[in-house]
Amino acid sequence: MASTAVHPAATFPASSSSEDPAKTPLSPTSTPPVTAATFIQVSIAQPASPQLEPEPEHESDQTMGDEEQSEDDGYESAESGVATESVWTSIRDYVYENGRRYHRYSEGSYILPNDEMEMERLELVHHQNLLLLRGSLCITPIEDVPMKVLDCGTGTGIWALDFAESHPKADVVGVDLSPIQPAWVWPNVRFEVDDIEKLWTYPENHFDFIYSRHLGQSIKDWKNYLQQMYTHSAPDGRIELIEHAMYLISEDGTYNNSCDLAQYINLFGEATTAAGMRSVLPEDIIKAAEEAGFVEVEKFTVKVPWGAWPKHPEMKSVGETMTAVLSTGGFEAFALQIMTRHLGMHPDKVRQLGQAALKDVVSRKVHSYQEQWYIIGRKPRPEELDVEVEIEVFGNDAA
Ligand SMILES: C[S@@+](CC[C@H](N)C(=O)[O-])C[C@H]1O[C@@H](n2cnc3c(N)ncnc32)[C@H](O)[C@@H]1O
Repeated sequence: MASTAVHPAATFPASSSSEDPAKTPLSPTSTPPVTAATFIQVSIAQPASPQLEPEPEHESDQTMGDEEQSEDDGYESAESGVATESVWTSIRDYVYENGRRYHRYSEGSYILPNDEMEMERLELVHHQNLLLLRGSLCITPIEDVPMKVLDCGTGTGIWALDFAESHPKADVVGVDLSPIQPAWVWPNVRFEVDDIEKLWTYPENHFDFIYSRHLGQSIKDWKNYLQQMYTHSAPDGRIELIEHAMYLISEDGTYNNSCDLAQYINLFGEATTAAGMRSVLPEDIIKAAEEAGFVEVEKFTVKVPWGAWPKHPEMKSVGETMTAVLSTGGFEAFALQIMTRHLGMHPDKVRQLGQAALKDVVSRKVHSYQEQWYIIGRKPRPEELDVEVEIEVFGNDAA
């Protein structure tokens, strides 16, 4: 069975405690058992501080993120495989809709754009994730030893690049529907265009670490996804999946149906339902992971504030980054395609809705947050598998 460790961030509010949550270790039960794997260290990454008490109200000074845009200038060739054949002429033939650019390969399977504004947004999301893990790239502790790593739905490739840089002995493959990764990469990284919902053509028992962040809007068959991860994980290999809730919460009632942010989120829910999408819950992923055969499956939860309203400096930084993420076309990116296609809304109306929701975030008056879940697991080594071997014993007289 999976054990569930709720990070102290889930305890709200934590400000009355005299303990410094930044120094509070995760519950001992949340530490994955140490195994014979050479690359696994003892401790896991410690997510950011739990304190989510709102600071006193004052005027907002939030601005848009101002990071450099990624290069949309090429990618390494994919290896041969059923899902990658005959795509070279068509994958750059992007789909343009309502002023945003979308992927062509496996068209329609992913609802967010892949243009420069979206790439900038993804880089901000990566920064936010680093803040949440205090600079760590993953919860699974991994040393720099030779290993094979797969980043599913790599996006701009920023995680894969950071991981490869900090683990020079690792070989990292990033795979995505869109060829939006930079052309100049570390020698131990390569990018492929492929659809991870199709049959994987990687060798079996191959990857020591498979990473998957924010694919909840895309994966339709989690059972199959986790099964493929299992098949292609090396014995003792690790997986880490990061997903977040499609709903928001506030502890003080400031997020309620009368605010524009809630109206946006509710309508987004209607659109996803109309599109036949179902939000994934951590329980679904845990079940799929365990059914596939992974062991030591665990869940960790952190709170991601929508806006810079928290008093605690670390959580404020996370909230500030979330404001930048949402200011960088975030509300539009999430909803433009599905609200126009499935609710018949005019694109301008979707944009207005997003602008109004953004005001709630920027104002810091709505103290909403989103849960983000980390699910980790391990593929057992062959000797750990409970395989019964029947041995017939013949007595002397049986001869
Ligand atoms: C929200 S972005 C996350 C990007 C990256 N994982 C990160 O955290 O920075 C989701 C990415 O998954 C990719 N994606 C969605 N469905 C996919 C699929 N079936 N196969 C491969 N990539 C997919 C999208 O193209 C997009 O780049």
